Amino acid sequence: MSCHTHSSLQPWNTFNLNARAAQISVINDRETLCQLWQESRVAQQPVLILGEGSNVLFLEDFSGHVLINRIQGIEISETEENWHLHIGAGENWHQLVEHTLKTGIAGLENLALIPGCAGSAPIQNIGAYGIEFNRVCEYVDIVELSTGNTMRMSSAECEFGYRDSIFKHRYQEGYAIVAVGLILAKKWKPILSYGDLTKLDPASVTPQHVFDAVCHMRRSKLPDPKVTGNAGSFFKNPVIDAEKAQALLQYYPSMPHYPQADGSMKLAAGWLIDQCHLKGLREGGAMVHQQQALVLINVEDATGNDVVRLAHEVRTQVGNKFDIWLEPEVRFICATGEVNAVEVIA
Ligand code: FAD
Ligand code: EPU
Repeated sequence: MSCHTHSSLQPWNTFNLNARAAQISVINDRETLCQLWQESRVAQQPVLILGEGSNVLFLEDFSGHVLINRIQGIEISETEENWHLHIGAGENWHQLVEHTLKTGIAGLENLALIPGCAGSAPIQNIGAYGIEFNRVCEYVDIVELSTGNTMRMSSAECEFGYRDSIFKHRYQEGYAIVAVGLILAKKWKPILSYGDLTKLDPASVTPQHVFDAVCHMRRSKLPDPKVTGNAGSFFKNPVIDAEKAQALLQYYPSMPHYPQADGSMKLAAGWLIDQCHLKGLREGGAMVHQQQALVLINVEDATGNDVVRLAHEVRTQVGNKFDIWLEPEVRFICATGEVNAVEVIA
């Protein structure tokens, strides 16, 4: 374990915001995680558990202890039909995707290049290019931080939804994810439904082709956080009722729209923002990305407040034009912990 006091959070958030924390510790095991959480509780100090900080916005300095989860370990076993992977929560997700492909295990390639830790993947049920985490999840191991007791939750118990799971609700406070279990079929079926993947030939395509195509598409649209601070899609794609979607389609026949299993319609928030001509809009050091309007970037020493003012402007303009009120995907963190992001930008 390494521990730093009054340290910058800049290396620990992909927005590259220069907030500070009273204390930052990098944790390699479950016992230390629980022990530090309990000590902070006794000291009445707020605690924040982080993976790679790729889905958080620091609104100000954090007054408590930030615990960076680096619990490692990849164990692979097999049955006749499936591979079973047990992954420490602090493993890097993209390196895991690469590692499985190199080992001859397919099934994660559509989720290549998503930043963050494997243990964070279930929290918002990461998704991209036609698949979501729940499709490969067998279980999630969590620890109750006050007791050290662990629980194994089946995929069904995780209540996965679009950018949602039970870890944003009932198991958000007082619990940490310490490992995830993945199940991948040995008989590989490519998923080629999204974007340029539809151009690949299902008869000859390999997992490596899909991986390469996904990496290429992502690199052409999304800014690399190592170069330009960002947290991926800033807002969730809105899901609206079919009637309202049909009314909008009358006016905007080319509007991207994705019918959902329950009859509702998912729209592309990036397209809505783009229609308001907001690419390049700037507030202080924060800007709407020129290649992908759904991404807000830190162009020049942005503060959390710059990003909040920009998000407010984007939400207001889209709301006024379409009567659709965008909700952040990114988690907002104030001095004492998470706050309601919609309330902050409304
Ligand atoms: P963090 O940002 O560190 O944490 C996120 C939240 O989870 C915080 O509230 C934190 O307190 C909590 N948390 C973290 N670890 C634990 C734990 N072990 N136990 C309990 N709570 C914990 N997401 C997608 O779904 N699809 C994409 O295509 C995608 N593309 C992206 C592209 C870019 C360039 C970027 C920067 C982000 C993108 N994201 C995407 C968002 C992000 O990668 C995911 O949300 C990722 O899972 C976050 O992982 P993290 O380790 O960085 O989490
Ligand atoms: N579009 C525009 N203008 C823009 C951006 C997008 O017109 O500035 C249009 C595109 O042309 C396309 C549609 O909007 O028709 C959707 O765009 P894209 O394929 O880029 O996907 P997205 O809906 O913007 C979602 C996820 C991404 C994920 C991609 C690929 C959400 C909130 N975002 O983005 O996830 O990588 O699909 O599957 O669901 C993330 O969550 O951080 C993230 C990056």
